[in-house]
Amino acid sequence: MIENRSSNNNIRKRINFDEPIGDMIERLKSEHHIFETKFQEVESVINNNDKNIVHATKIIRSMSESIIHHAVEEEARLLRVIMHKAKDESSESIKIMQEHNWVINFLKNKLTEIENRKNLDLESSSSLKHNEDTQSINEFISNLRNHFREEEQIVFPLVLRAENKSP
Ligand SMILES: [Fe+2]
Ligand SMILES: [Fe+2]
Repeated sequence: MIENRSSNNNIRKRINFDEPIGDMIERLKSEHHIFETKFQEVESVINNNDKNIVHATKIIRSMSESIIHHAVEEEARLLRVIMHKAKDESSESIKIMQEHNWVINFLKNKLTEIENRKNLDLESSSSLKHNEDTQSINEFISNLRNHFREEEQIVFPLVLRAENKSP
């Protein structure tokens, strides 16, 4: 879970607590689709002959604020519904929400490390580090894809069930 709440104050202020949960879930799903389209772009630039990691990192960096905001919203609103109305069934959803930790960690640390290395521009596209970076980015995408799937199959349906139960 995103623990450093104070640093997320600006983002938290922009959370719309009046948006109905059903509408919010539809919006989150459509954001997953938008992210997926970008992932496919990233995969095509790093896995083709050019292995263009600089371009790939730029695409991911351009999405990072949206990804973080999306995650903060899920924790602020969906987890709240689950803890209030479906606590007995919460454990799997909590685990899925905790996956946000590595997402944020990748964006803050690993991606920055790759960007800095690329800025030095000292590597050929066949170097060991280059291959490691390609692998890290591919893993990030496949893990995040899996995370979206888990949310759509487990977290979102639980929230909707819980929300529709009488209080
Ligand atoms: Fe998420
Ligand atoms: Fe999500």
